[in-house]
Amino acid sequence: MSNKLNTNMLVLATHNAGKVAEMQKILAPYDIKVLSADDLKLSEPEETGTTFVENALIKAISASKEANMVAIADDSGLCVHALNNRPGIYSARYNEPKKNGFDYAMKCLDEELKEKTDNKDRSAHFSCAIAVAFPNGETKTFEGIVNGSLCWPARGNAGFGYDPMFVPDGYDKSFAELSGDVKNKISHRANALKQFIDYFLK
Ligand code: IMP
Repeated sequence: MSNKLNTNMLVLATHNAGKVAEMQKILAPYDIKVLSADDLKLSEPEETGTTFVENALIKAISASKEANMVAIADDSGLCVHALNNRPGIYSARYNEPKKNGFDYAMKCLDEELKEKTDNKDRSAHFSCAIAVAFPNGETKTFEGIVNGSLCWPARGNAGFGYDPMFVPDGYDKSFAELSGDVKNKISHRANALKQFIDYFLK
């Protein structure tokens, strides 16, 4: 085994297809077989943590125990500066996007920003915590962010979640307009996964 995980197979502890696609692509160059939580029909633990790191650990530890494999989990979200970094860890639950769709969640976020802040500060960042859990109970975490601002109307069809309204600093296109290759180089997830790769796979 040429990596410090001591295995060539790990499970991605997420049922979010957008995250699975991005993480599998970023990890593709390494000699690692990546299974998804759906492949193994793993349960979804309740995210009761108060930080991205705590929630990532809950998911990784649960998947590692259930699958008896090394597990890697991502907990991430959009932090809007003028809204005290909300929706943050509640991004997946803000205005029930699973029920109402992300277009509605994005519209609510834009309206809230306009109402509560006069729309002066539209800066935001995405944050991502990656947790790795081993069957013997050991864990390790990494955190990445990407800064940007929120555009309206939302633009583009690529990516997932809030991508159509997030324009990363240094670009004039939203994450949903940029190619996946660009997002996978500069995103919060890419940033945290790069630290994971440097630590465990190099
Ligand atoms: P959780 O980590 O499963 O709690 O969900 C994270 C939520 O944050 C996702 O459902 C999206 O709403 C949002 N999110 C996290 N990362 C991204 C991203 O890369 N693009 C767009 N939205 C994201």
